[in-house]
Amino acid sequence: MPFKRSLPTPLLKLLAVSFLAVQPALAQVAEIPAQSLGLVPLPREVKAYAATYSLPQKISIYAAGKDAQNVASLLKEMLAPLGKTVALTTNRAAAQIKLLTAPTPSPEGYRLVVDKGGVQITAASGAGLFYGSQTLLQLLPPRATAAVRVPYVRISDEPAFQWRGAMLDVCRHFFSVEFVKKYIDFLAAYKLNTFHWHLTDDQGWRIEIKKYPKLTQVSAFRKQTLIGAQQLFKTPADFKYDATPYGGFYTQAQIKEVVAYAQKRYITIVPEIEMPGHSVSVLAAYPELACKPGPYETWTMWGVNEDIVCPSEPTIRFFEDVLAEVTTLFPGKYVHIGGDEAPKTRWKESAAVQEIMKREGFTDVEKVQGWFNRQIEDFLTSKGKKLIGWDEILEGGIGPSATVMSWRGEKGGIEAAKLGHDVVMTPTTNLYLDYGQNPQPHSPYEPLMIGGYLPLAKVYSYNPLPAELTAEQKKHILGVGANMWTEYITTPEKAEYMLFPRMLAAAEVAWVPAARRNYADFLPRMGQQFARLDAHKINYRVPEPLGLDSLSLVRQGSKAVFTLRSLVPGAQIRYTLDGQLPDETTELYTKPVAVPVGSRLTVRAVTIAPNGRKSPPAELLVR
Ligand code: ACM
Repeated sequence: MPFKRSLPTPLLKLLAVSFLAVQPALAQVAEIPAQSLGLVPLPREVKAYAATYSLPQKISIYAAGKDAQNVASLLKEMLAPLGKTVALTTNRAAAQIKLLTAPTPSPEGYRLVVDKGGVQITAASGAGLFYGSQTLLQLLPPRATAAVRVPYVRISDEPAFQWRGAMLDVCRHFFSVEFVKKYIDFLAAYKLNTFHWHLTDDQGWRIEIKKYPKLTQVSAFRKQTLIGAQQLFKTPADFKYDATPYGGFYTQAQIKEVVAYAQKRYITIVPEIEMPGHSVSVLAAYPELACKPGPYETWTMWGVNEDIVCPSEPTIRFFEDVLAEVTTLFPGKYVHIGGDEAPKTRWKESAAVQEIMKREGFTDVEKVQGWFNRQIEDFLTSKGKKLIGWDEILEGGIGPSATVMSWRGEKGGIEAAKLGHDVVMTPTTNLYLDYGQNPQPHSPYEPLMIGGYLPLAKVYSYNPLPAELTAEQKKHILGVGANMWTEYITTPEKAEYMLFPRMLAAAEVAWVPAARRNYADFLPRMGQQFARLDAHKINYRVPEPLGLDSLSLVRQGSKAVFTLRSLVPGAQIRYTLDGQLPDETTELYTKPVAVPVGSRLTVRAVTIAPNGRKSPPAELLVR
């Protein structure tokens, strides 16, 4: 809980009276631990004080200029659920919230001061004012309350990285414009600034392209979807399908609506149009772009498909036409061209590709992908855009201005930075949020998922700046991206379950320099966010209780004592010693529990959050 709501009332009264009487300067008010504010991501410098400023029912915001007025209009939306109405004013002295423009050390930085004069956010840019507003929002109660008091603070903040991204795959499963906007809100709330929109893949093409209507008539749909986890079947002959057509796409009008929504929140969208791999849905509509005659169909299973587009003249024209429309729709600097997982089976068999290799003097077929990419890059450059692709693009040779997204660990990113390319780190090891969150493989208490194990702590521990890079090379690391692939993520609820709370850790990796991060400090701050996630009806994964691992068990003579802790404020912990699944009716944990050593009892414990939702069980066999 933010400190204010836990201060005893008499003390509050005393503070309020003394302020009215003498209006002491901030320096005379006692400082309190900044930790108690529960801010995520942690600002660069925070001072918090044992006093509060009360926001009235009707709030006036002083905002001069387009950016300040834009942020004021967002604040109006953000404050409405707290029961506050907001009016803009040009009377600076009368405003409770002042949005001011002044130089800051970092373009996205801001200063936030709350004292007896009210709330003052100062920044050089709209983005900075917006981040200051997001910090302010985290200082307010999560829901409407009679009195909204803001703790006195002095905050000076700026991000560690300029690229703070999160990707959403809308191809394997399609997500509505409404959810895409909600996803953008998630990013904005935690000061991420780049929405990587994975728009095309084998299982569906999701963006309307006027010149190629069959992309939305044919490529946007598949005849059915695989049932269950593909990795658990031995061969495709065992696969089962749901016999239900599946698909969807965004019209250009919808794309424009999402772009405007993101822009207003200082989020840049990086559209991803996959080439030459992950493109069988294109071949379903335009088989003439394949090396081998079709027919093809939009894929109904997951993985890497050998049927990729042929690097022919018509294919290059096709992607140039597509990108001509994409680059007009998206105002951002970057266009992602995929480039990952493009097996060369079909290219090796193709006379047309042999011809290209002979003409260009290539002996390695991988170089053909580089040749293809360079033509695409020239086209993007002619449109004033920059190319970014997955780390496989390094293998074919890339132009000096291409940016590399390192997903197969950091190796590609390190190599690229050494070669002088800009890099965004998105390694599977730390930032694939579609990976599992349960230490038990195939836990029956988790939704169907792709597998892997990426606990919160591992996300948090990530340092995007590899030690082996020199200071100069590190400058090429633009930042990080968290990836949400959706083979098994069929609904918004499931996407939220995989995203939260790990996205909070990823946001802190993006915003806070590694040297200033501390997991033990993060956990209680993260804990304070759950009530905010509840207020936004976000289906986060309730973390299991901590303390049920062999390291936490304390031996006292013939007893083993376990001490449990929940990361969710106000939650109950319930446990069992008989292997049953704990629920509301089983033992309430109130103090450390002793069990006989060697009893082979299974201790199982769940967190029951204040919203009634339960965590998966944590468990430990006491040997
Ligand atoms: C990827 O995960 N194939 C980039």
